[in-house]
Amino acid sequence: KASKTNARGARPIRNATVLGAGIMGGGIAYTSASRGIPVRMKDIRQEQLDLGSSEAGKLVGKQVSIGRLRQEQADAVLKAIGAQLDYAGVDTTDVVVEAVVENLKIKHAVLSEVEALVRPDAVIASNTSSLRIDDLAVPLARPENFVGMHFFNPVPVMPLVEVIRGARTSDAAVATIVSYALALGKTPIVVKDGPGFLVNRILTPYMQGFGQLIAHGADFEKVDEALESFGWPMGPAYLNDVVGMDTGVHVAQIICAGFPDRLRRTWKDPLGVMVENRRFGQKNGVGFYRYETDPKGKPR
Ligand code: 3HC
Repeated sequence: KASKTNARGARPIRNATVLGAGIMGGGIAYTSASRGIPVRMKDIRQEQLDLGSSEAGKLVGKQVSIGRLRQEQADAVLKAIGAQLDYAGVDTTDVVVEAVVENLKIKHAVLSEVEALVRPDAVIASNTSSLRIDDLAVPLARPENFVGMHFFNPVPVMPLVEVIRGARTSDAAVATIVSYALALGKTPIVVKDGPGFLVNRILTPYMQGFGQLIAHGADFEKVDEALESFGWPMGPAYLNDVVGMDTGVHVAQIICAGFPDRLRRTWKDPLGVMVENRRFGQKNGVGFYRYETDPKGKPR
């Protein structure tokens, strides 16, 4: 059944589906549900679903503890977040946000799978942070309904959302995702397709500069202190811990491959070495800093 569209072409969004739970998926689900748009999180692994649900639970719990939500409002938000291992009910969804691992083959498989199950007018968005929308759209039957929707970490507090228009993305799909981002209280910007889009295209050379400093013997804590004094909300070492070293390094590799003349590295990447040593950051308790039992706790 086709949905009505408004004057700007945006389709109404009554419910959403997030593919890939975990910290990012949980943050997107929480943000959506707390803004009155029910959401189902779908993952292939129960432990990821548990992580996404617990992330949403913690965020809701904090709002209750500081008196911003009454318990019954908190219960309603949590009730509006489904967690499932299958695609049940996805045929009624207005928008899908794919937030699975940053791997072209896996994203192709997941996007094709969900496209076959959703309504023909449902918009499918990818939360990719580096892969080109046109490359992701290759196996899709309806690339006009496919668009990028890139959130930043931590999702509930970062206002910016990049909306990425691929060569075949329709105006209606862009308008729908812009209006969804606005409904989530975010600041959407529509950007062109290309490795890293806007923010990560700038952030990657910055992190490369940081990696080179460390490779040349700089003390990461001093670099953090310097950059925080300079005005950044958090220095590059701590930011890597927040984003996840594995994610950051992987994203940087994709973007560097997209701009080989500009981002060629001639030193061994210390961040890559940290990934080899499983120092992923807050997500597993150790990155540049160590974290106490609360992974959101300040570093020590
Ligand atoms: N989850 C949810 N909420 C969080 C949070 C988290 N992980 N961390 C902090 N917050 C909330 C706090 O609860 C607080 O909310 P309140 O005002 O409602 O009480 C608010 O954010 C401010 O927190 P604090 O006062 O404790 O700390 P700060 O003033 O340092 O702000 C910050 C925290 C907003 C995260 C700030 O440090 C910041 O902007 N950091 C930079 C983050 C950034 O650059 N993100 C982009 C990463 S790149 C990326 O994601 C791209 C990807 O593709 C790789």
